[in-house]
Amino acid sequence: MIDVKNLTKSFGDFTAVDNLSFEIKSGEVVGFLGPNGAGKSTTMKMLTGFLKPTSGEIRIADMAMDTSCKAIQEKIGYLPEGAPAYGDMTVLQFLHFIAEVRGLKGEKKTHRIADVVAQVELKDMLDRPIDNLSKGFKRRVGIAQAILHDPEILILDEPTDGLDPNQKHQVRKLIQNLSKDKIVVISTHILEEVSAVCNRAMIIAEGKMMFDATPADLIKKSRYYRAVTVHFNQFADISGLGELPGVNEMEVDKSSGKVTLFPIKGADLMPIVAEHIRQGNMPVDLLYSEPGRMDDVFRTMTTAGGEVK
Ligand SMILES: Nc1ncnc2c1ncn2[C@@H]1O[C@H](COP(=O)(O)OP(=O)(O)OP(=O)(O)O)[C@@H](O)[C@H]1O
Ligand SMILES: [Mg+2]
Repeated sequence: MIDVKNLTKSFGDFTAVDNLSFEIKSGEVVGFLGPNGAGKSTTMKMLTGFLKPTSGEIRIADMAMDTSCKAIQEKIGYLPEGAPAYGDMTVLQFLHFIAEVRGLKGEKKTHRIADVVAQVELKDMLDRPIDNLSKGFKRRVGIAQAILHDPEILILDEPTDGLDPNQKHQVRKLIQNLSKDKIVVISTHILEEVSAVCNRAMIIAEGKMMFDATPADLIKKSRYYRAVTVHFNQFADISGLGELPGVNEMEVDKSSGKVTLFPIKGADLMPIVAEHIRQGNMPVDLLYSEPGRMDDVFRTMTTAGGEVK
């Protein structure tokens, strides 16, 4: 449904988006991850037809962006970075305005507005000028206008930025409920958000694609994936732990009495470590297998070198 080939955007001699290629199919919820300035928003602006690529091709629903931009935009709901425009309109005026632009009329318009107002909980703000709203409520208005015409494709640039924890939860649920027959592309700096709502994660750094697979595959790239952590509640002789078969490395945090054992590739450390602790009758509070840490993969992939083994 979305087909991007060799997409590049340069500003002068600076390349913000560098030769990206990907396809996105119906039902996919894609999370764009990447450091500030990586090119996420620039890519989204090109996907929504607001910015012309320097080179490369975007096809959406079998139409080419450079010849069918308007027809493509009808299929897309877009939440841009920052707040929505027309700050002197009230929330309700703004939603009516957008509904009309999107071709909604009569009862259908009234129903859709009522639906989205309920979905993003804007009921108490309808008569306030948008300029006077708090950051989070402005964001909600932005989400409301993006979903108003029930688009097949939703492109949301940091949808939960500035929202309180309850609204974050609400918006994530909304995205999950929307996503069954749609394409949703979100950008976010909240790594857990990708595991929570996305079935595909793309990491972009310096305009280039560093990773494109499921969040589960992403977390497997963490050096912590299947590492075993032991919390001791008093002094213990830990020298034997680092010598156990399958242990590649041992990290000791003396202040908290925590030891993490990293496996050599493919090794299953838990039974070996558990047995060692039992035999030595060691003073252990907590013993667990690490699920992997997104922040550590993100850091490795987006800082110098980039490659994760
Ligand atoms: N109109 C423009 N003119 C010149 N440079 C631009 C323009 N728009 C974006 N850039 C540059 O392109 C790069 C990518 O910006 P972009 O906004 O896409 O990053 P991002 O991944 O969305 O970052 P953030 O996480 O901070 O939102 C940045 O270095 C930015 O300064
Ligand atoms: Mg951005």
